[in-house]
Amino acid sequence: MNSKSVTIIIGGGIAAYKSLELIRLLKKSGVRVRAVLTRAGAEFVTPLSLSALTCEPVYQNLFDLDNEAQMGHIQLSRSADLIIVAPATADLMAKMASGLANDLASTLLLATDTPVLIAPAMNVRMWKHPATMRNLAILKADGIALIGPDEGDMACGEFGFGRMKEPEAIFVAAQAALGAPGPLTGKHILITSGPTHEPIDPVRYIANRSSGRQGAAIANALVRLGASVSYITGPVSVPTPAGVTEIKVETALQMFDAVKAALPADAAIFVAAVADWRVDCADTKKIKKNAGKLPSFSFCENPDILANICALPKQTRPALVIGFAAETDNVLDNARAKKKRKKCDWLITNDVSGDVMGGANNQITLLRDEGEENWPLMSKDEMATRLATQLTKAITSS
Ligand code: CTP
Repeated sequence: MNSKSVTIIIGGGIAAYKSLELIRLLKKSGVRVRAVLTRAGAEFVTPLSLSALTCEPVYQNLFDLDNEAQMGHIQLSRSADLIIVAPATADLMAKMASGLANDLASTLLLATDTPVLIAPAMNVRMWKHPATMRNLAILKADGIALIGPDEGDMACGEFGFGRMKEPEAIFVAAQAALGAPGPLTGKHILITSGPTHEPIDPVRYIANRSSGRQGAAIANALVRLGASVSYITGPVSVPTPAGVTEIKVETALQMFDAVKAALPADAAIFVAAVADWRVDCADTKKIKKNAGKLPSFSFCENPDILANICALPKQTRPALVIGFAAETDNVLDNARAKKKRKKCDWLITNDVSGDVMGGANNQITLLRDEGEENWPLMSKDEMATRLATQLTKAITSS
């Protein structure tokens, strides 16, 4: 992205500190970054930090002679390939939606014909307020791209939607908006992720501890490399990776249908912890407690999605199929047998007897026909990046 240029507008919110990391990521990828700091933004990050990170002057005032002499605000609004507003506060969104131009940031946003990406950040009630929702609808209709916000704990102690997306996710969205090609551009990759929920009756289901974190991390890493990713996920609370096509499912049968519908693909990665069984004829009414009498259920087996995809004829089978093996004992022996049984090209195995499921780290062994590789304990993000690099080599060299 060496020839690209981004103007980032930093509004006044506690999330402003995350924009420093976003600038770092953009700079690292070769993008020229100019920062515009609002008066409220300057309460959270300093012009000095921004100037040090961007290696450029920081633009703060509409009527600042120095700023205007360096680059007039009209030129500043036109010279970038993308304008990012992060954090986009409720106030900035309101100004944009109503076309106000009473400071440098709002004037620049009104004067621009450059694509704009906003990453909102605010208290959950401010986000849900009808005024903000109205402004959001106007901004969307005006063609403004949106990323986030996420749901989670807020700096003010409340919980809900309003957290700014993580810098990494905004960076991915920015890359996509800038049309940056990557080594996987033009490749379609399918990922299953998260648990499946198998209903017992309308209010109960069988589930497992999968958080979907590893699958989301892999999807993120592949999007970063330019892949078009079909992300088929069971019920999870991890944020949807930016830039994927998300297909939400509940049960193993739905996941299987979604996988078949998403084909053809250049590669498929089966990270999901699919329930092996479902309750035969789940009840359509809530099963009532019946004093002293325990219910009993009969089960039937779910289709093995991975094995079915591996068994497809060569023309429809993805060139590279990767399975995961969640084991608690005889990890390697079980994994080797699983790879043979399911006929996948690569199998990633991990010991899930600890806190891997739902945790932030993973320690895996990669089984391939050429040999086995033991990877050290690392974060799920790092593991995803490493896997994406190996996958890129495999599907772009053939
Ligand atoms: N898998 C699948 N469909 C299923 C079960 C598993 O696609 N019905 C996939 C998983 O996504 C994973 C791999 O198969 O990539 C192995 O899953 P795992 O749960 O480790 O193995 P199982 O096949 O369920 O075998 P077991 O429970 O006996 O270990």
